[in-house]
Amino acid sequence: MAHIELKNITKKFGGHTALTGLNLEIADGEFFVLLGETGAGKTTTLRLIAGLEKPTEGQVFIDGVDVASWGAAERDVALVLQQYSLYPRYTVRENLEFPLKPKIRRLPDAEIKDRVARAARTLRIEHLLDRKTDRLSGGEMQRVSIGRAIVRKPRVFLMDEPLSALDAKLREALRTELKNLQMQLGATFLFVTHDQIEAMSMGDKVGVLNHGRIVQTGSPQEIYNNPRDTYVASFVGSPPMNLIDGKLVDDRAVMAPTSFELPVSGGAKTGGATDGRPLVFGIRPEDVYLEGGAPVEAKVHDVENHGVEKIVTLRVGETMLRATVPARTAVEIEQPVRFAWNPDKVVMFDKGSGVSLRHAG
Ligand SMILES: Nc1ncnc2c1ncn2[C@@H]1O[C@H](COP(=O)(O)OP(=O)(O)OP(=O)(O)O)[C@@H](O)[C@H]1O
Ligand SMILES: [Mg+2]
Repeated sequence: MAHIELKNITKKFGGHTALTGLNLEIADGEFFVLLGETGAGKTTTLRLIAGLEKPTEGQVFIDGVDVASWGAAERDVALVLQQYSLYPRYTVRENLEFPLKPKIRRLPDAEIKDRVARAARTLRIEHLLDRKTDRLSGGEMQRVSIGRAIVRKPRVFLMDEPLSALDAKLREALRTELKNLQMQLGATFLFVTHDQIEAMSMGDKVGVLNHGRIVQTGSPQEIYNNPRDTYVASFVGSPPMNLIDGKLVDDRAVMAPTSFELPVSGGAKTGGATDGRPLVFGIRPEDVYLEGGAPVEAKVHDVENHGVEKIVTLRVGETMLRATVPARTAVEIEQPVRFAWNPDKVVMFDKGSGVSLRHAG
């Protein structure tokens, strides 16, 4: 187990800056998810912690110790990759034993046997131990790769999109298993993904990375309910938060260019929410209601069925917004409907910077 801290890390590759002034703290035993789009700098961050890359500026601390002079082996972290690298002609058992049999520091045979047996039980791959790894399914191979990390009992697990090559069902199953595994081991996990659902469902804490900068760190609830800026608001959540341009006039959101208005409650208001300031109003689709007597008229632009619920795209003039409604709600395309929003749940962002007024310092 270990506590990790990245202080003011900048990483340049030639003229390209992959990470800028990155600060990150991962508590001992925490499941931390780093969420970011492709090229955001997720793998680079993991490689810096693992000691496979050196920062251009800044420091990496493991348990309070600056590890700049430590090589990858000394850092005692395990890296699990998206593309599992198993030895194909060997059995699962041999693959699991391999990390425990370095020339130096070789463990006693009984200890190796014990660790392999435990890892296999934890990952439910006991029945596969004598199979060659090239005969396994993707999910089984990924379990074995995770097993190779577990047997070493590292201080930290670094996981680089380990589930993204798997099909949806298996991904979901392994998501739960990994989370259970982390709790069982009490280990520090840094899990990297571009999948916001994965991040929100697995993380104790989530850090959102955008173009090499951490935009926001917080619990999944904080990030979902109180996004720091419009980037986080539109990245997290499916469907994403509705973002509509407008301004505040007497506690009402007045939208532009399509002029319609809805109330904003005192609770949603914060300092800086002055009348007339150009804003972006954010509202989650589940906080938009269709109701007969509601204040605004819209046309149904599109309907998507998702089993227990429907996602309805509403059109008011040129403005589109989405509402999540129960599946039993009868709606047809081009039907006129009326809608309102929950005035307590409105988030206001500065139009120029995109930063939430609640976060603006
Ligand atoms: N060795 C390298 N040399 C030059 N540029 C690099 C190198 N490694 C990464 N980069 C660049 O740094 C940026 C961040 O890369 P990184 O691999 O960390 O992104 P990522 O968030 O892991 O993306 P993905 O989701 O696609 O894996 C990218 O623009 C990438 O092209
Ligand atoms: Mg990557």
